[in-house]
Amino acid sequence: MCGIVGYCGYRPASVVLLEGLKRLEYRGYDSAGICVGTGNKFELLKKRGKIRELNELVGKRTLGDFGIGHTRWATHGEANDRNAHPHTSASGDVVLVHNGIIENYAELKKEFESSGQIFQSETDTEVIAFMIEDAYKGNLENAVREVLPLLKGTYGIAVIHKNEPGKIVGARNGSPLVLGIGEHEMFLASDVTAILAYTKDAVYLNDGELVSITKDGYRTFDINDTIIQKQVEQISWELEQIEKRGFKHFMQKEIHEQVESISRAFQGRLNKESATGHLGGLNMLPNELLGVRRVIIMAAGTSYHAGMIGAYLIEKLARIPASAELSSEIRYKNPVVEHDSLYFVVSQSGETADTLQAMREIQRKGGKVLGLCNVVGSTIARESDGGVYLHSGPEIAVASTKAFTSQLAVLYVLALSLARMRHLSIEDGLKIINALEVLPEKISSILKQTAHIEALAEKYHRYENFLFLGRGMNYPVAMEGALKLKEISYIHAEGYSAAEIKHGPIALINENTPSFFLVPDDLLRDKVITNMKEVKARKGKLIAVAVEGDLEIAGIADDVIYIPHTEEIMYPFLMVLPTQLFAYYCAIKLGRDVDQPRNLAKSVTVE
Ligand code: F6R
Repeated sequence: MCGIVGYCGYRPASVVLLEGLKRLEYRGYDSAGICVGTGNKFELLKKRGKIRELNELVGKRTLGDFGIGHTRWATHGEANDRNAHPHTSASGDVVLVHNGIIENYAELKKEFESSGQIFQSETDTEVIAFMIEDAYKGNLENAVREVLPLLKGTYGIAVIHKNEPGKIVGARNGSPLVLGIGEHEMFLASDVTAILAYTKDAVYLNDGELVSITKDGYRTFDINDTIIQKQVEQISWELEQIEKRGFKHFMQKEIHEQVESISRAFQGRLNKESATGHLGGLNMLPNELLGVRRVIIMAAGTSYHAGMIGAYLIEKLARIPASAELSSEIRYKNPVVEHDSLYFVVSQSGETADTLQAMREIQRKGGKVLGLCNVVGSTIARESDGGVYLHSGPEIAVASTKAFTSQLAVLYVLALSLARMRHLSIEDGLKIINALEVLPEKISSILKQTAHIEALAEKYHRYENFLFLGRGMNYPVAMEGALKLKEISYIHAEGYSAAEIKHGPIALINENTPSFFLVPDDLLRDKVITNMKEVKARKGKLIAVAVEGDLEIAGIADDVIYIPHTEEIMYPFLMVLPTQLFAYYCAIKLGRDVDQPRNLAKSVTVE
């Protein structure tokens, strides 16, 4: 989604802004721009396309001592130079960047158009600059405060005015904004990755809060101009975590990082002596957890797939009815919220609008919502009633990989704790802990097969349709495998329960539609083999992920990827790895932009 950077300080503003925008590239965008000021001389440069095209406009020049920059992911108006941010007011005195959506922009625009004013863009943003200019009476903070109540929708904005060089005013309502504090320099950003190279001291704005920065200080206040004292927090990420470190793509790096990121998700959260898990951040006493009669996990996309597996496991181990719901849907179905139900939201970014709104809807109805997030200080992390961080480190590739396995790891610890409070024995609890602890080793051994999986991608990447099929806990993994393949390679893929194919999808099978089967050595193995044979009988190509030693599978499938044996419930962690690698290499072979696939954004902050 869109990204914002702002800078006031002693360095050339264009350099800081362009570097910040480069760091925000991963969020997905289709145009970019900056406006830099040297005194009251502003230079505005914006361009459709990638940051490198904006860089070409700037050339070798280093410009300005303050300024604002933006990466735009088109919503209102196509991706072109005119619609790119920053946008200016009628006279050009006010310059502004905006994340979010102004729902009443058309109505607001009409007022200006009726007095003969002309807008340059089709965006919902430009009108805010016009309004601020109109409200300006010598003080930018006051003008912004006057305009904000008139806007309906969501925004994170950064604004500058020619009469107040060296100052940026920011405001937040529904789109993240963070202030970075340096020595004689200040930063504004929609995401800490943009400023991590310069500072680790951050102040996260809440909805309804404004900030005004100059190179020597900042002021946080609200719409009534009441000063708000904010806590300065330390950004826990390291700069090297947001760099590729020798890998060709962030996605490749993040797939490989799973060996460590998984252990970080359960480190310090497992107790062998009592054979249970402990998630302190939930802020719930044991008797409260014992009183839980229903668990609902809300999430979107990949996080929803993790949630489906988590729900399956909670019900299986803890014997508590549990389900996963698409956050975009639960919000609008007027859900029944009961006092003994426990709600979880799962979100890598902690900013996904659908999930955030689902959480707020449940909270409005009096429900308790706990968050599983990766991004520290994110909106969901701050607004949930308790929660747990994934500690996967920054996930930069748009396609989620390591966050998925970390989400699973935390959900497994949760299921274990709920189960140990109920029917799960010490022996069975210990088995789960032991199996979790050896996962990194098993993941490493799968990663050693990268060359084999790359060769399979070479063989199959020209097919245009795929089915991903699994059962039980591996059914959501099949959905995740299909999602990964389609989002980064643009090959059409569907994920189904293998049992379901005979109810429809089998009609798609012919020699041009390969099926990717997930076949653990569990209770349903033989039934899955039957499904494989049904596909084979219809000349469908078969790729299988199976357990080492399962030679029967090699006799049925065209190609097999073997994974190590593990406890039945642990297979989702291992099954997903080959699907991630397969998607990655298919995308590479097809020449796709793996880290920034078309039309996608990293954190989807619009509904
Ligand atoms: C797929 C992917 C998306 C996200 C979804 C939710 O690779 O990344 O499907 O999983 O947009 O995002 P979060 O987890 O940030 O709420």
